[in-house]
Amino acid sequence: MYIGKPSDIKPSEITDRKVYQQRRRFLGVAGVSAAGLAAAAALPGLLSASRGVHAQARLAAAYQSPFNTKEALTPYKDVTTYNNFYEFGVGKSDPAELAASLKPHPWTVTVDGACASPGAYHLEDFIKPHALGDYVYRHRCVEAWSMVIPWVGFPLAEVIKRARPTGAAKFVQFTTLLDPKMFPGQRFPVLDWPYTEGLRMDEALHPLTLLAVGLYGEVLPNQNGAPLRLVVPWKYGFKSIKSIVRISFVEQQPITTWMRAVPSRYGFYSNVNPDVDTVPWSQRYERRIGNLFKQKTLMFNGYGAQVAHLYAGMNLAKDY
Ligand code: MTE
Repeated sequence: MYIGKPSDIKPSEITDRKVYQQRRRFLGVAGVSAAGLAAAAALPGLLSASRGVHAQARLAAAYQSPFNTKEALTPYKDVTTYNNFYEFGVGKSDPAELAASLKPHPWTVTVDGACASPGAYHLEDFIKPHALGDYVYRHRCVEAWSMVIPWVGFPLAEVIKRARPTGAAKFVQFTTLLDPKMFPGQRFPVLDWPYTEGLRMDEALHPLTLLAVGLYGEVLPNQNGAPLRLVVPWKYGFKSIKSIVRISFVEQQPITTWMRAVPSRYGFYSNVNPDVDTVPWSQRYERRIGNLFKQKTLMFNGYGAQVAHLYAGMNLAKDY
């Protein structure tokens, strides 16, 4: 990872995978992606450089996930202007229009609960730059639209191992920052703030599960959950909680924000499942943003080979 000069290829010019790959080659030619270790020293600079909706700081992560999809990337513009982030309003364009009020630096992440090494970390200490990698994953919203997003991040498992959970830790709970000044939507009782989510411990430890700090090789734009958000690609997008300030190890299955809001519609697991509708949305097909025709939705969002075993013996129509 490396902090380069502001790119001469603007994010807005990046429209497809080909352009992105050309850009990655540019980074490679510049010796950037090989500079993982040098980046450790530069991380605080990068983080402070990432203010604003269109961050200029670049994250070059050398590691490529073996689970990366080769499907066409969703254009940067769509990834960053068609969002769900109710802390800024319920409209798809609200986050991009209003997210400048979020100040992602300085930022503290607290790790607590049933673990031997709890702690409160400045983001700079929390992120291990050498662990950053490129993860090109499908992203499927319960509203039946989908994207393919090139994330920059690291496995959540890294954080869990560092925290040394005790035997009582059966689930991991995540909490978004509560701050109505930064998040104007929190002034309205649209949801029970702060937004929370949860995973079972084996889901949280799965190598597909990420903490993302960037996308398209750049620091995460505010509207996508700066400075740190979860990515769980085999589950509906609402599990991927944004702007995380707390990661807690708990014994009981947590009640998540959406379970509390609409218990009949949202379960704890929320695995992408074309056979179980989520009224009012059928989950059989999805609209890949940018494509004309709908496409069939895949069980576990196409990650069945990696995750189906986690749910062996469970009835996923009941445990949705
Ligand atoms: N996290 C917080 N804190 N607040 C939210 O409203 N929306 C969720 C999820 N994470 C949400 C959140 C939903 S419904 C989806 S589909 C994804 O974020 C959208 O992520 P994206 O905007 O990066 O595509």
